[in-house]
Amino acid sequence: MKNIVILISGGGSNMAAIVRSAQRGAWDAALGARVAAVISNRPDAGGLAFARENGIATAVVDHKEFPSREAFEDALRRAVDVHAPALVVLAGFMRILTPAFVEHYAGRLLNIHPSLLPAFPGLHTHQRAIEAGCRVAGATVHQVTAELDHGPILEQAVVPVMPDDTADTLAARVLTQEHRIYPRAIARLLREG
Ligand code: GAR
Repeated sequence: MKNIVILISGGGSNMAAIVRSAQRGAWDAALGARVAAVISNRPDAGGLAFARENGIATAVVDHKEFPSREAFEDALRRAVDVHAPALVVLAGFMRILTPAFVEHYAGRLLNIHPSLLPAFPGLHTHQRAIEAGCRVAGATVHQVTAELDHGPILEQAVVPVMPDDTADTLAARVLTQEHRIYPRAIARLLREG
């Protein structure tokens, strides 16, 4: 059985989309994978309740309880590695990870970013897309490498930017597409071994 560990910081709607897709059998038995755990760096992350309700192990590694990024990541790595994951999936996980952490999971660490990378890495992607006058926006699933919001692209989805969009309306339109492409990227990776 291939274990998937999902890291979240907030509402966890991408995590929920991945779990629901697994429940619907989108990953057939041949893929032999399951979401083994959901881990948050914030104790108040809304997604933790969804995970528990769906019988998934949860853990909190609160970054505020550690004196340094390295100490936080040591604890996070231990919490993740208990599950011997085949894939570690960042789903709205809002901490920057050090190259050492990324290297530890090389080739099995995924992220979703709410822009059409390589455009708009970093924060406030929707506001920046609107201010730049972009006619389209979107989301990207990519392998994580040491450089923030870079790494080989696995899936992208494109949405229109409407003339009256705010960052919130655009974010909502992009998020519905995130829920579609993240489970698909994971299934494809599992299938390809
Ligand atoms: C998603 O839009 C995701 O792409 C973004 O945070 C949101 C999390 O929503 N991630 C980043 O900005 C990473 N830099 P969710 O908690 O409902 O999945």
